[in-house]
Amino acid sequence: MKAVILVGGYGSRLRPLTSDVPKQMLQVVGLTMLERVLDQLARFGVDEAVLSLGYLPEVFTSAYPTGEARGIRLSYAVEDEPLDTGGAIRFAAESAKLDETFIVVNGDVLNEIDISKVVAFHHKRRALATISLIPVDDPSAYGVVTTDHRGRVTDFIEKPPRDQAPTNTVNAGSYVLEPEALATFGCGERFSIERQVFPDLASRGALYAVASSSYWIDAGTPETLLRAAMDILVGNRSNVAIPGHRRRGSLLIEGEKSLMEGRCDSVSYLGAGSVVRQGSLLRHAVIETNVVVDEDVTLVNSLVLPGAVIGRHAVIEGSIIGAGAVVPEHAVVLGGSVVARNAELLPGCRVESERVPS
Ligand code: GDD
Ligand code: MG
Repeated sequence: MKAVILVGGYGSRLRPLTSDVPKQMLQVVGLTMLERVLDQLARFGVDEAVLSLGYLPEVFTSAYPTGEARGIRLSYAVEDEPLDTGGAIRFAAESAKLDETFIVVNGDVLNEIDISKVVAFHHKRRALATISLIPVDDPSAYGVVTTDHRGRVTDFIEKPPRDQAPTNTVNAGSYVLEPEALATFGCGERFSIERQVFPDLASRGALYAVASSSYWIDAGTPETLLRAAMDILVGNRSNVAIPGHRRRGSLLIEGEKSLMEGRCDSVSYLGAGSVVRQGSLLRHAVIETNVVVDEDVTLVNSLVLPGAVIGRHAVIEGSIIGAGAVVPEHAVVLGGSVVARNAELLPGCRVESERVPS
């Protein structure tokens, strides 16, 4: 089966991590977000995917030069300007000449939804489009969906104010579509699947939905990206790959050249080519590839992206350090802070609940 993966957004909520890399190309425990999405699709028999690209397309094309990743053949549909979700799907489907039922997923959602059940239900109902649903605590950041007893969508309201959401069941960002589902809109036009197509299909009784209670997270904010990494690490998930790791106590180590001289007292991950020097403590830390953690560093509940350098006696808690960033000695980074790619903090500085640079 074929899938379109939407990966063309600017990733604004993850800035400055996404100022020169699309969010789906950020590493989450040894694999990019996109690779994790591909793994999930491959489990349900997807063998070809069209990447729907807009923002920094060359980051994707150069990362997968053979046109293949995680066992899935890739093709690319690059928009000249953002076509929004509906326009992007229409453009990708036309570019790849999709003429049968196909899957669409938002490329920033990590989940374990059984999409084959959605496909089966879609065919049973002879729907034009079928979406998967998931319950959340606060539906106001998502597409809120009501259905009747047959699974027909009665209302689709994108990001309503919290007190106006009729239910906490939301669009999980995985769809099964017929090629005709978007036919009333022109190819190359900009339109939203959530604000235009789904409400229109719902009003015509052609949109269905299947609820799931599987693991699900939209990793498109710093808080959820960090949570997604922690969920993979602490095993809140099944069917999730951690590449080539060997174990040393509670530390998962990837690659022959990684070096651990410090202590790890709660499950943590050390990516290939990374080094942790003596006296350092890891507690629920995810350290991606080629990171240097110098002596006597404390790293708790945090994600350190490839190539970052953490100086002696630094303390990092509940935060994300961007690729190539430098956190020098005695710096303290706390409370959901995000340090940009290649940013350099000042020695001894204290950063709390901040994005640097802001
Ligand atoms: N190609 C392309 N072009 N892709 C785009 C564009 C565009 O113009 N705009 C957004 N995307 C991609 C993003 O990169 C992302 O992978 C996906 O489309 C969804 O966009 P987000 O910006 O992440 O949307 P959201 O999280 O606010 O809301 C969406 O996802 C929720 C579930 O996580 C909606 O689909 C909601 O209804 C849904 O509940
Ligand atoms: Mg999102």
